[in-house]
Amino acid sequence: MNITVIGAGYVGLITASGLAETGHRVICVDDDQGKIDTLNAGGMPFYEPGLGDLVDRNRAAKRLEFISRIEDAVAQCEVIFICVGTPPLEDGEADLSSVELVARRISACARGYHLVIEKSTVPVQTGRRLQKHFSIYGDNSQSHYDVASNPEFLREGSGVEDFFHPDRIVIGVDSKKAAGLLEEVYRPVLEQSFVCPIHDSCGKRPHVPLVVTDINSAELIKHASNSFLAMKISFINMISDLCEAVGADAGKVAQAIGMDSRIGSSFLRPGIGFGGSCFPKDLQAFVRVGQSAGCDFTLLREVERINQRRVDLFVDKIKHELWVLRGKRIGVWGLAFKPRTDDVRSAPALAIIRRLLAEGAVVRAYDPQAMGKAKAQLPGVEYCADAYVVAEGADAVLALTEWEEFLSLDFEKVRTMMARPLIFDGRNMFSRIDMAEHGIEYVDVGSGAQLHNHTPTL
Ligand code: UGA
Repeated sequence: MNITVIGAGYVGLITASGLAETGHRVICVDDDQGKIDTLNAGGMPFYEPGLGDLVDRNRAAKRLEFISRIEDAVAQCEVIFICVGTPPLEDGEADLSSVELVARRISACARGYHLVIEKSTVPVQTGRRLQKHFSIYGDNSQSHYDVASNPEFLREGSGVEDFFHPDRIVIGVDSKKAAGLLEEVYRPVLEQSFVCPIHDSCGKRPHVPLVVTDINSAELIKHASNSFLAMKISFINMISDLCEAVGADAGKVAQAIGMDSRIGSSFLRPGIGFGGSCFPKDLQAFVRVGQSAGCDFTLLREVERINQRRVDLFVDKIKHELWVLRGKRIGVWGLAFKPRTDDVRSAPALAIIRRLLAEGAVVRAYDPQAMGKAKAQLPGVEYCADAYVVAEGADAVLALTEWEEFLSLDFEKVRTMMARPLIFDGRNMFSRIDMAEHGIEYVDVGSGAQLHNHTPTL
């Protein structure tokens, strides 16, 4: 099939190159000419494991091309995916101006039938708006449209894997034709019939479930999924605060409650809270959706509030140990909002560093991928060549992103390099026992049996 993907961000680029890999001919459009030039020159606008190879291979095979004019793509393609950004407005509502602009451009140049699929995360009823838009602005003598919703569930850092091996594919449609076309688009993924580009011995995997719904439900599924996951994280963070207060171990609590198959073990890792470009923004947008529909979404407001408090509580712990921060040398391991990405949007690490800088601390940081992006936002930090340089002369080191390379550090060396061997682990990535064996003071999240045993009795 000939497919247009509008937007070359995380979602657009993974979708475009994934669809090309499964045999479609894909034109990926972005009006950022710089990004298109980078992609055409063999570069990548951001770091995502496996994506560069996928893009290169499919561009070389002429199944994937990058252009900046929508008109040149739409004329050739019946199927159009909209994958543009929907950032938050000041009040948390999703800004749909890019989606609307794309719809205007499509209607200005469309001829014949087009299936326009929203893949950007949008509030429920956006599909209806788009249908109305096309009925008003589309030239109905020359063109006609179906609108569909196809939310994505890709995680940064494992987006390529998630594209090829999703838990489910959700399509929201209101015509048989739209459903049929979307099934055809995803058939290789649904049947797992492609040659897997990421696993050498992928073997025969079971078919991926296809969930077909109305458009409103599909849109809502996306916001509800992200909000539920965010709720799990805030729940375990709330429990971890209690564990610290009463002398229990949040890791063990999470492990045991996660063994209940009705609860599930994932997204129960306590820490410094969720960040990234999705959860914080989608939660806010979903609260706004609930509000305008007259529904009580207080539950999700609390999820957000608990998450915002994570940074305060972590900084309080640091101050409790280091006392005055002014002039203290604090090392930071990890800046990205999660490992395997260079994305620092709403990263808890950046919020924590801002607080330390405001208190006069000297902050020295290292991240395997995210330093370029962090530098643009945090010029007051000294960026270091590796994790050991960060530890040199430090009064404390904060582990803020759980990159794998931090696990294999030589902690004997780390201890001798630090002015005070003290690690605050915001991701619970190290073992308390290992740290004690290396003679390093260790403060994690959610462990009641910590450094200073001042557990109150209730
Ligand atoms: C999230 C969803 O997981 C995807 O399904 C969705 O497609 C995507 O948002 C999106 O809407 O585009 P992502 O933001 O890439 O994906 O990353 P996650 O792996 O979900 O992690 C989000 C944040 O939660 C990170 O800051 C992570 O450190 C934090 N987290 C995650 C925890 O603090 N504890 C956990 O147990 C799990």
